Amino acid sequence: MHWGRRGAAAADAPPLPRTAVELRDVTHAYGERTVLSDVTLTLTESRIGVIGANGSGKSTFARLLNGLVVPTAGTVLVDGLDTRTQVREVRRQVGFVFQDPDAQIVHPTVAEDVAFGPTNQGRPADEIARRVDEVLDRYGLDGHRDHPAHLLSGGQKQLLAIAGVLVMEPQRVVFDEPTTLLDLVNTRRVAQVIEGLRQDVVVVTHHLDLLAGFDRVLVFEDGRLAADGSPAETVPWYVARNA
Ligand SMILES: Nc1ncnc2c1ncn2[C@@H]1O[C@H](COP(=O)(O)OP(=O)(O)O)[C@@H](O)[C@H]1O
Ligand SMILES: [Mg+2]
Repeated sequence: MHWGRRGAAAADAPPLPRTAVELRDVTHAYGERTVLSDVTLTLTESRIGVIGANGSGKSTFARLLNGLVVPTAGTVLVDGLDTRTQVREVRRQVGFVFQDPDAQIVHPTVAEDVAFGPTNQGRPADEIARRVDEVLDRYGLDGHRDHPAHLLSGGQKQLLAIAGVLVMEPQRVVFDEPTTLLDLVNTRRVAQVIEGLRQDVVVVTHHLDLLAGFDRVLVFEDGRLAADGSPAETVPWYVARNA
């Protein structure tokens, strides 16, 4: 499947500095149950995919990247910042988009919701207004700015959730199954948005077609990194293994 080419946002803005995310001997347990074991890797590539069966630890891995989850053992460093002790700085650099946009939408109207993150970061009012206008325009939500966010369609809600992260201008964005709840048209739209981002991304997905142009794909199995390589290497391996 063809997902379209890079969007306008990528073409007219200078590249952002790269954020390196380093995991050193990372293990995570929920209570007694270890769900991620001994993960050591450094993420520097612009387009990184994460695949694996349900329950293999993908979301736990994704959440470790910006401190939504802190490891029970080992260390996660974002450009040297420890997610355990410097989570505020880490979250400025690495944004997170949840599978279910309702988990992310907290304010009554579209414009208020997008303004929430930069307001929370203590940015000046005029800068917030400018950034909000910019992202609403970019994601086709400009006509909906005063609409109740919960009345948007599923696809619009996911775009709103993405806008609410991008307005904070992180250097890398982690998407946890951003298209799983969407129909084909909205899946394509979100895929195009991701492709057009000047930010680096990590995308957890079951939508393997989305990874075709990616630089690197990680495959998780039972809480372990089972494969790590180009999509051409890892995706057919994963498909064959789960056939
Ligand atoms: N908050 C939690 N408390 C307890 N167990 C959890 C929690 N979150 C996830 N798990 C368990 O950890 C394992 C890995 O989950 P997860 O990282 O969500 O995997 P995936 O995203 O690949 O489905 C699963 O067995 C899941 O049930
Ligand atoms: Mg998950």
